[in-house]
Amino acid sequence: MSHSTDTPALRTRPEWRALERHRDAAAGQSLRGLFAADPGRGERMTLEAAGWYLDYSKQRVTGETLGLLRALAAAAGVPERTAAMFRGDRINVTEGRAVLHTALRAPRRAKLEVDGRDVIRDVHEVLDRMANFAERVRSGEWTGHTGRRIRHIVNIGIGGSDLGPVMAFEALKFYSQRELSFSFVSNVDGTHLLEALNGRDPAETLFVISSKTFTTLETLANAHAARDWCLGALVQPAAIARHFVAVSTNTEAVQKFGIDPANMFGFWDWVGGRYSMDSAIGLSTMLAIGPDRFHEMLAGFHAMDSHFRTAPPERNLPQLMALLAIWNGNFLGAPTVAVLPYAQYLTRFPAYLQQLTMESNGKHVTLEGARVDYATGPVYWGEPGTNGQHSFYQLIHQGTHLIPCDFIGICRPLNPLGVQHDLLMANLFAQSEALAFGKTPAEVAAEGATAALVPHRSFEGNRPSNTLLADELSPHTLGALVALYEHSVFVQGVIWNIDSFDQWGVELGKALATRTAAELASVEAPALTHDSSSNALIRRYRARRGAS
Ligand code: F6P
Repeated sequence: MSHSTDTPALRTRPEWRALERHRDAAAGQSLRGLFAADPGRGERMTLEAAGWYLDYSKQRVTGETLGLLRALAAAAGVPERTAAMFRGDRINVTEGRAVLHTALRAPRRAKLEVDGRDVIRDVHEVLDRMANFAERVRSGEWTGHTGRRIRHIVNIGIGGSDLGPVMAFEALKFYSQRELSFSFVSNVDGTHLLEALNGRDPAETLFVISSKTFTTLETLANAHAARDWCLGALVQPAAIARHFVAVSTNTEAVQKFGIDPANMFGFWDWVGGRYSMDSAIGLSTMLAIGPDRFHEMLAGFHAMDSHFRTAPPERNLPQLMALLAIWNGNFLGAPTVAVLPYAQYLTRFPAYLQQLTMESNGKHVTLEGARVDYATGPVYWGEPGTNGQHSFYQLIHQGTHLIPCDFIGICRPLNPLGVQHDLLMANLFAQSEALAFGKTPAEVAAEGATAALVPHRSFEGNRPSNTLLADELSPHTLGALVALYEHSVFVQGVIWNIDSFDQWGVELGKALATRTAAELASVEAPALTHDSSSNALIRRYRARRGAS
């Protein structure tokens, strides 16, 4: 563990105190005022890396704020911890694991040894096997048990074994092989699987069972049901070998399920579930877009990795995004962040980011186990624009919570349709402008509003936002975007001195669900020993669920 128990508590650091004083001194400062005082701000407060341009001029910061934030990052050990991560040190201290998702996208020629193993060689061996398999399925050479071509691919997984794959599939659908259909089944609600299989022919369906541990209840329940569905039609157990492949780190469990290890694609304990979409967990992505495009995506990840690793703090995009998040959350008190992609293909990006950010930084103790006395990971949420505008933007504009926004836009549409892309982007630009500058009561009154309506129609403005723009949505820019947020999450975790790579918070619910499932399954009414609310809910459900 790189931090000893004498690590100064974050809020007592002089750098933190300096930021508090700076915040207090700047109280009353507005984005209107900042832009009026510095008309070049919109061009200057921008940064570009790996195909992404960030305009952060609509954040409530000055050059001084950023300098103070960078001092905090340096004092918290961001450069040292970054080097440790890339080197393969066991920075996930509570699980005693290295954190090496950056090795998943390192080029073949790179070198990295961990515990005497060349991990880059391992990574590329698996990538090559995935590519071979994906080409065979895409070309029709790999057939089902009856010799029919595979037409439907169903990824069964949950959390990181679902959100990354489904997000990437949606994001890169433009590049996908359209004769293949894809479904992503995660929920243990039988509806999810049955709706995905409705109308499908088992002889033409391939299941990719994605689970790092291969013990996850939801995934195994769905995988067993899928196997029953398949064998119900194809009958012979030998059919499983043609219709099921696995992505996992657990060979034994995969074998026990009945999948031939020859049809298993592995990864390693140093890949966290929410950091795994570029590992073998991306098999469905590769099946959809093909190995070449998949490698373009990896190159995008790697471009952002290299930038993050080498760019100086003043020009380091992931570090900057992290510091802006710390400023908004810890110093301006914003408890949430809205992620607003103005790109229909990024429809699942907010959901993907929720796991990446909140499972990583939703922690309440430091690396040393002490209760933190500052806010850690904010709540991430969002929807593609323009849909959100007609739903929750009202609260962002005029509600009582400060909600910083990340707008994401693409300059060149993949699907040009009349003037629609201009309309889409006009809305993005309009929203960040309206949030930043608002509309004063005087402006509202000058438009002829009655005195009674002026307060209702005024906008305070001063709502901060980032705008991220890429020239196009490609596998490369998608990879770079994901890596940007991954590293931003990492830097925030370093500053908060928490373990961004464990997820103990999911364990209690899992244990209680296992116990409760047994109580629901028992024929005799069991003696319940939960709290009175849970007991009553279980009893009511048992009485009313009907025949199981
Ligand atoms: O329960 C949380 C979690 O462990 C996530 O971190 C992970 O992405 C998900 O479950 C799925 O895990 P697995 O890939 O092992 O099935």
